[in-house]
Amino acid sequence: AAEIQDDLSEILVTEEQIREKLDELAARVAADYAGKDLLLVGVLKGAFVVMADFARALPMHAPIDFMAVSSYGASTKSSGVVQIRKDLDTDLHGKHVLIVEDIIDSGLTLSWLLENFESRGAESIEVLALLRKPEAAKVHIDCKYVGFDIPTEFVVGYGLDYAERYRNLRDVAVLAPHVYS
Ligand code: PRP
Ligand code: MN
Ligand code: MG
Repeated sequence: AAEIQDDLSEILVTEEQIREKLDELAARVAADYAGKDLLLVGVLKGAFVVMADFARALPMHAPIDFMAVSSYGASTKSSGVVQIRKDLDTDLHGKHVLIVEDIIDSGLTLSWLLENFESRGAESIEVLALLRKPEAAKVHIDCKYVGFDIPTEFVVGYGLDYAERYRNLRDVAVLAPHVYS
């Protein structure tokens, strides 16, 4: 039987490194938002794992909402068109919103999302992204909380997919080119 491991060329960030980094980021966020009305907004589907771990690392009250958007589909390249699959349940008026993302690649998803959120009356909007590919940026995203800067390679695991696979891997790994080429 084909093993999942055969589809991966390299482990880039381990479960343990992610846990340590999320603890660090959670401490920073808790200090920055002390006494404020914080709302965590996860960007589905990719952010479901980082949201679960980050929210549990955070030592303060923080309601959680999700928005589902997608632009990659079954490709390793962004279509550039962001589609809303599920909108928020929460009114953002007066809220301090922290968007929780798995990865900033071209930046197109977040740039679209930030513009969309700015018209909804939030008190403040910041971004937390576990991963960022600095050399792949097509638009600049002001991201206050970054986990790891990584090279421009297609990565999967810890919520990130290729054609809906690999989201359930514990580590972040580079997808072997033979899988998509
Ligand atoms: C992926 C990833 C980010 C976005 C980053 O989502 O989870 O949301 O792409 O890429 P960008 O910076 O180039 O826009 P995707 O569209 O694959 O949907 P998914 O989260 O459901 O997998
Ligand atoms: Mn996503
Ligand atoms: Mg995807």
